[in-house]
Amino acid sequence: MARRALITGITGQDGSYLAEHLLSEGYEVWGLARGQANPRVSRMRKLLSDVQVVRGDLLDQGSLISAVERVQPDEVYNLGAISFVPMSWEQAELTAEVTGMGVLRMLEAIRVCSGVSRGVSSAVGNIRFYQASSSEMFGQVTETPQNESTGFHPRSPYGVAKAYGHFLTQNYRESYGMFAVSGILFNHESPRRGAEFVTRKVTLGVARIKLGLATELRLGNLEARRDWGFAGDYVRAMHLMLRASKPEDYVIGTGRMKSVRELVQAAFTAAGLDWEQYVIVDQALHRPAEVDLLCADPKKARVQLGWEPTVSFDDLIAMMVESDLRLLTDGGDPDQDSSWP
Ligand code: NAP
Ligand code: GDD
Repeated sequence: MARRALITGITGQDGSYLAEHLLSEGYEVWGLARGQANPRVSRMRKLLSDVQVVRGDLLDQGSLISAVERVQPDEVYNLGAISFVPMSWEQAELTAEVTGMGVLRMLEAIRVCSGVSRGVSSAVGNIRFYQASSSEMFGQVTETPQNESTGFHPRSPYGVAKAYGHFLTQNYRESYGMFAVSGILFNHESPRRGAEFVTRKVTLGVARIKLGLATELRLGNLEARRDWGFAGDYVRAMHLMLRASKPEDYVIGTGRMKSVRELVQAAFTAAGLDWEQYVIVDQALHRPAEVDLLCADPKKARVQLGWEPTVSFDDLIAMMVESDLRLLTDGGDPDQDSSWP
């Protein structure tokens, strides 16, 4: 019988790539979707017609229990979150509830559905759990590159909420013997990346300028450095973690760091443009507390899982610029969630 996976955050970037990957591996895939008329659900359905949808919300414990009871999953991937760091200052409490407490609610749903009493140590059924942890937990880094033992110093309410979910996942593993793991993923991007994140903001900006639809691109801190990879590669790592023989946490990234300035250069160059003529630095886009640099040491994943990234930084940015040029040329509207390549 096909393995069954339940994915929260199915309408997001990673949810879509993970669903595609699991479907190609022969899984029956279910996505948890919220809201009564969520336009992102129809966008997802257009791309992934084989995914079955179950209603639920990370804010609603009962809905998660019902979803687990209905789907009877072998694997649960908790990708749902408020994931845009600046929003976490504007709506810190909501971020704590969704990105942090949502992890507790999903773990509790699995515990309850497995019939294990709260606070009693015993093995929780067979459901394997993946938590989408983040390199934002490292925040103001204590060493470079960062690995599974590097300490956390989160710099945003988002990073703090992710740290809570991360430790809770470890705690349920230790308390209940659950196969529960965290992937500490560094930034990963794609043509399906939300338009609010810097890579997509830049590639869409470049496409608009190239097509004469805009004359400038306003950005914040150009000196921040990140380890950017391709989302399609990173979802394979999630699956490998849940199929491993032992539940362990892994850092996933490329091990290479680029600045936002280098990202901008790469994107404008891919379209044959000179970035310095168009980019305006806007202080209003700087963050209250910045994460200056993030760089992964993915050795453990390479050695133990056999995981390797396959798409280089330059190829990733060129892929995104090309995709956005095509989208805008075809009359697509990325702000309306109208299309997904
Ligand atoms: P994304 O595109 O922003 O997707 C977020 C998903 O969370 C959406 O499907 C959204 O659904 C869902 N969601 C929001 N609030 C919810 C709620 N109350 N209940 C249920 N679902 C809710 O994020 P992503 O880039 O795919 O990232 C996936 C996960 O990995 C996130 O947890 C993110 O924090 C984490 N992560 C991402 C990166 C990265 O670089 N992409 C790196 C490290 C960790 P709606 O459509 O209903 O809004
Ligand atoms: N979004 C955005 N917009 N970022 C900008 C801009 C701008 O106009 N200008 C400069 N930046 C800088 C930010 O200050 C940050 O240092 C860097 O670009 C990356 O910003 P984002 O793309 O918004 O991503 P993030 O690093 O804050 O968070 C992403 O990666 C995390 C993993 O490290 C998100 O996907 C998180 O959900 C994820 O956990």
